[in-house]
Amino acid sequence: MPQDLATAVAASTLDSAMDAIITVDDAQRIVLFNATAESMFGWARAEAIGAPLTTLIPARFHGSHAMALDQFGGEASPRRRMAEDRIVTGRRRSGEEFPIDASISYLTHDDRRYFTVILRDVTLRLRAIDDLTRSRAETKALAAAAQDALEHEKRRIARELHDELGQSLTMLTMDVAWCRTHIPSTDGAVAAHFTRMEELLKATVAATRRIASDLRPLMLDDLGLAPALEWLVQTMAQRSGIACTLAMDEAALELPQLHSTALFRVVQEALTNIAKHARATEAAVEIVRDADRLRVVVRDNGIGFDAGEPRKPASFGLLGLRERVSLLQGEVRIDSTVQGTRITIDLPVPGEDEPPGAAAVTTGGDARGPARGEPS
Ligand SMILES: Nc1ncnc2c1ncn2[C@@H]1O[C@H](COP(=O)(O)OP(=O)(O)OP(=O)(O)O)[C@@H](O)[C@H]1O
Ligand SMILES: [Mg+2]
Repeated sequence: MPQDLATAVAASTLDSAMDAIITVDDAQRIVLFNATAESMFGWARAEAIGAPLTTLIPARFHGSHAMALDQFGGEASPRRRMAEDRIVTGRRRSGEEFPIDASISYLTHDDRRYFTVILRDVTLRLRAIDDLTRSRAETKALAAAAQDALEHEKRRIARELHDELGQSLTMLTMDVAWCRTHIPSTDGAVAAHFTRMEELLKATVAATRRIASDLRPLMLDDLGLAPALEWLVQTMAQRSGIACTLAMDEAALELPQLHSTALFRVVQEALTNIAKHARATEAAVEIVRDADRLRVVVRDNGIGFDAGEPRKPASFGLLGLRERVSLLQGEVRIDSTVQGTRITIDLPVPGEDEPPGAAAVTTGGDARGPARGEPS
């Protein structure tokens, strides 16, 4: 390419570039200032040429900037980002400061060193990141509040069902039994009605208890996490026919209510998923406390799934599980293969002395009757 054409192409490229391009000499005076630099900094080219580079930098950075440039001039590589992972600050003619993503290169011409910086105004990008970060934090706070309200409501309805409806049904059962003994009748149809009423009442009492426990097992509030987990594992085994074991350090499960509720719901979701999706024959829950950390592992020997796949539109279980754990500053890891799935949850918990003893409870798929500690 002829020299004059090359110069013309270079000049037009410089002025059509989306980034500001500025070259300074070894005395850090501006020798090249393209059109985007003019609009970015508010100085006309004629004003900028010959001016010190510090014109474009807030005063508090002058010292460190000059040093960085000197140091860079001594480096072997003539090209690099000006600040890795860091945005540098520019100053417009108006005095307004703004964030810049900059890269720098140098060349030596006629024994003089020239530095060229390519600058991109990242004000909008940083603002978008800020907005996104804020909006994520707000969504998290909203999700936490919604979860809290839901849990509160579930607890209230479970109590009402248990205390009000449950008690009334028990009284009614006793009254029917009283009537049966105090209304002498030789009519077989009357006796059959009494029997039907008693059976119906028994089934209704059982359904009320089941609905209340499914909403929120009262033992979680009354007796604590360990009995509630035992109940959960037994119920899951009974309903699904999957043999399920629970190994836990019971004493280590004396946790603040926020943690207890989260742990219970997390194990409940993992077990529900096993029952719904895994086609497993065995499942295991393990909870180990190590000083101020708690590790929960829920695993199955089912068909597995691709945990890296995008979330299905109507699937919120694992998302909620992750959300609960992240609210408590914990971490979730899902390892899944065709041999089964393992969900590992690591949670920091308020530190206290290591409680002694570990309890292990094993429940087969044929477990019967209410779990230990289930209030009537
Ligand atoms: N233990 C598991 N074994 C096999 N597949 C699983 C297991 N756990 C989850 N999955 C798969 O991951 C998907 C997402 O699970 P997630 O709990 O988020 O949603 P869901 O169970 O489908 O619905 P939801 O929990 O909202 O009622 C499931 O649809 C299932 O395909
Ligand atoms: Mg689920």
